[in-house]
Amino acid sequence: MIPPELTARVSKQFTQTCGRPPRWIAAAPGRVNVIGEHTDYNDGFVLPMAIERYTVMAADFALAAPNPAKAGEGGSSCSIFDAHFKETATIDVSVPVTRGEPKWSNYIRGVMAGFQQRGVKIPALDVAFLSTVPLGGGLSSSAALEVCTATLLEVATGKQLDPVEKALLCQKAEHEFAGVPCGIMDQFISVMGRENHLLLLDCRSRQTDLVPMNDPSVALLIINTNVKHELGSGEYAKRRAECETAAKILGVPSLRDATAEALEEARGKMEGMVFCRARHVIGEIERTVHAAEGIRASNWPTVGQLMYASHRSLRDDYEVSCAELDAVVDIAEDLGIQGGVYGCRMTGGGFGGCAVALVKADAVADISKKISADYLTKTGLAATIFSSRPAAGAAVLKS
Ligand code: GLA
Repeated sequence: MIPPELTARVSKQFTQTCGRPPRWIAAAPGRVNVIGEHTDYNDGFVLPMAIERYTVMAADFALAAPNPAKAGEGGSSCSIFDAHFKETATIDVSVPVTRGEPKWSNYIRGVMAGFQQRGVKIPALDVAFLSTVPLGGGLSSSAALEVCTATLLEVATGKQLDPVEKALLCQKAEHEFAGVPCGIMDQFISVMGRENHLLLLDCRSRQTDLVPMNDPSVALLIINTNVKHELGSGEYAKRRAECETAAKILGVPSLRDATAEALEEARGKMEGMVFCRARHVIGEIERTVHAAEGIRASNWPTVGQLMYASHRSLRDDYEVSCAELDAVVDIAEDLGIQGGVYGCRMTGGGFGGCAVALVKADAVADISKKISADYLTKTGLAATIFSSRPAAGAAVLKS
């Protein structure tokens, strides 16, 4: 459930800023990917869940002249107030929306453009928003912002989108307005998350399969390294291109269609690095399917081993980990099952951000304490750790 305090805070911000209560409130969650990393843009499987961290927007139609000093602006622009950074984006919606300033507004602009491209007229709106999804932590704060915007626009324009179309519209916003050639995982889970379930998503057919995750004896811990290495998005695009190169050499439409045997046979035909990237993707797709089976069977040691294997592959073959993420995974592995940890891996795009650990529920407090202390000793940095149940996807909370 979306915390009522958060909704109340955003509502209050709106009322303070705009001088009247909001007409609508919409929310969308961030996500953590349990396994299946860098597989979405290879048509593979992913296994994320929505987390209990949200972007929440409160809004109303803009008044014709909300402020005498700004008379005349009310009819054509959306005024979007980021209540955390105390910054407002003004977006002219009487013309096709384009990229602009501030930078964060591009996620919102991209979604607005997507609605306009579907022939939907966006009314002038006043919006205030807050997010509890850590920024730049690999927990899809950007997808939460996009999906929240889309959910708000659905209720404000009356144009209800099919959930798949909604996720794809938001993904396009990320590609064209934020310049990140991401796959479909983040936007899908933010739209389609279900309480107490992971989502096994076939990124080729877009078929979704809910995997119950409600065994009270286990919990998922999210460990934010609090580092973000700037090479992130450029390297992401590079990995994507390397996967395409590998698929081309293997003569398949995407790495989803390749096998470990075929890759081995073709080893001599490709650069070592391209080989390693493909080896990660092929192995990770298989691990993801096995992990879903393991979760259905509550076979936690097996799921944990698959998570460690995923991390090693991301670290060594895909090269998207970093020293801080490796430190967290090493600490978790040292604790072991005796210490309450089944498995741990980096999650999301990589180069910083978060790790996710599958742990015994009754050991959460001890494990968090130990990881915090050892991470500080090893890196000199403070980690932020929290646990989350699988949460529901985007919703309109007031209409
Ligand atoms: C980012 C992208 C996703 C996915 C992951 C890696 O989060 O937005 O589409 O590719 O990286 O699994």
